[in-house]
Amino acid sequence: MAEKKTYYITTPIYYPSGNPHIGHCYTTVACDTIARFKRMQGYDVMFLTGTDEHGMKIEQKAKELGVTPKEYVDPIVDNFKHLWQTMDISYDRYIRTTDEYHVKSVQKIFKKLYDKGYIYKGEYTGKYCTPCESFWTESQLDENGCCPDCHRSVVDAHEEAYFLKVSDFADKVEKFLTETDYLSPKSRVNEMINNFIKPGLEDLCVSRTSFTWGIPVDFDPKHVVYVWVDALSNYITALGYENDEYNDFEKYWPADLHMTAKEIVRFHSIIWPIMLMMLDLPLPKHLYGHGWINFNGQKMSKSVGNVIDPFVLAERYGSDAVRYQILRDMPYGSDSNFSNEIMINRINSDLANGFGNLVSRTVAMADKYFGGTLPEERQAEDLDNELIDMAGKLRDTVAPLIGEAQLAKALEEIFKVVSRANKYIDETEPWILGKDEAKKARLASVLYNLLETIRICSGLLAAFMPKTSPEVWKQIGASEELTKYDELGKFGKLPVNVTVSKGEMLFPRIDVEKEIDELNALLTPAKAFKEDEDLDKANVITIDQFAEVKLRSGEITACEKIKKSKKLLKLQVDDGRNGRQIVSGIANWYKPEDLIGKKIVFVANLSPAKLCGELSEGMILACDAGEDDVRVLFLDKDVPNGSTIR
Ligand code: MSP
Repeated sequence: MAEKKTYYITTPIYYPSGNPHIGHCYTTVACDTIARFKRMQGYDVMFLTGTDEHGMKIEQKAKELGVTPKEYVDPIVDNFKHLWQTMDISYDRYIRTTDEYHVKSVQKIFKKLYDKGYIYKGEYTGKYCTPCESFWTESQLDENGCCPDCHRSVVDAHEEAYFLKVSDFADKVEKFLTETDYLSPKSRVNEMINNFIKPGLEDLCVSRTSFTWGIPVDFDPKHVVYVWVDALSNYITALGYENDEYNDFEKYWPADLHMTAKEIVRFHSIIWPIMLMMLDLPLPKHLYGHGWINFNGQKMSKSVGNVIDPFVLAERYGSDAVRYQILRDMPYGSDSNFSNEIMINRINSDLANGFGNLVSRTVAMADKYFGGTLPEERQAEDLDNELIDMAGKLRDTVAPLIGEAQLAKALEEIFKVVSRANKYIDETEPWILGKDEAKKARLASVLYNLLETIRICSGLLAAFMPKTSPEVWKQIGASEELTKYDELGKFGKLPVNVTVSKGEMLFPRIDVEKEIDELNALLTPAKAFKEDEDLDKANVITIDQFAEVKLRSGEITACEKIKKSKKLLKLQVDDGRNGRQIVSGIANWYKPEDLIGKKIVFVANLSPAKLCGELSEGMILACDAGEDDVRVLFLDKDVPNGSTIR
């Protein structure tokens, strides 16, 4: 017997540095849909996902919480796995970069590249922010050449490090991107070439000595392997490359499809192929870089809260509806916008009024007019042809789209047929046919055509909505055999005297206004700020420690922009004493004239610092007011200047 063709598909591996959100679901749900569809088509599928658990950020977060990095990531990894279960993700393998076999394989990969001369020891020169203990490259600094986190001055730094000779491979990778159809959409190829390859590929620093939470370079253990070299390797270590844990490398490599969001396409289209070229391994066949799910028009932030928590959405609407909406509303290659209204309206229009209504009306009419079982007599009419033709061709329209990850387009095609079928009900008026005994044969034809259309649509939708389709098959009386891929390409497969059985409504209509109110009420700060709360609990201070921070009231008497900076304002503050100058990073939100005369709170005993060459003696207090918004804490006008705040 001929061996099945294989199909290897991967999601990125996720950082377990906070709980997963709906944005994380897109790639995984999209890959799951493709994996399911390929299985239907008879492929032997390997669908890989996992978590990317090393790096300085994880080390820092764990330290803040007083736990080890592994203790920090373990519950978050469990939560990711729980989410994938909730969303019906049918992955075949889950890799954690802390898995022993992966660690050992990465060490071997690193050594191999070193032995081949592609990794060499050098000196990393960059910038260092002493208070943050962070290294930065020139390009990461803010517009004033200061630390992008705290905006203080940085100093030149040198660190011994290993480098990967990517510069030698610029031509080869450019050729790979331009002469193959590896990267899609095509616009991203130009982006990669113009933004990264043409300006000149610099050798990549692939080891760090400034933190320890990573895979040690086994022949020089004060270095840990750069997190991207560690992470990208997952796609081959998970198949058993350089380890005995698995044994499928020959079978599945090269990958058929890597899927990622746009901001990490650079690593997958330049660094990853170069690493593989260096290892003399075949290159993956396709990479699809999709856009982001934005939230209410802006990028997701913790303060937006838990309405976009996928667990909440799946519980309220069912995981299939969530899967459907995120796939349907993401245009190929560009961003989509998520809001509660968009989600609810999509569920109502396509699933409740569209597909759900088609199924329930058809089954209810077969039940009402024929007691559930269609008679054998038929009467066809020309009017039937368009629907029969559309439904009969649907599988072959949809299959290539799914193969190219054009999932929104594939759903659009399926729902064109769903809409056509609903229109067919209006045109044929089965409720009128049902009243006339002489028109029963015609009615049976109409209902049969509808049931067949539903069989084909639900069969193709099974990869998108794996819970709903089997429920539909029960209702329309389709045997498992008739939902197989081969049968979905043909119209007229249900038995002539098919028997339907009425069932639950698939997608109850949602009352938009009521639902939005309820969702808003769900946004309790306790839930929205859960992570901060954990950090607060882990970082409790005593009243004496608090008393060490001297907070005082003051009045802004003069204020101007700092010329070299877009963010900084220079404030003269009457502090009830000799006056002081404070530099504050609030220029994005306040004009100097808005601040003069305002009473503020400042930290009086902060050690003075120079920011963009200006002395700052203290810090004024402000609070985050949502994504990219900040408000200064103003005091009442009659508060005297220089009073102690406690
Ligand atoms: N750990 C790296 C990937 C290493 S792969 C060898 C990483 N992890 S991540 O958790 O930050 O992101 C994982 C994936 O989720 C990325 O493709 C990322 O772009 C995607 N998304 C995160 N937020 C998203 C949206 N709001 N919308 C769509 N995808 C988003 O990057």
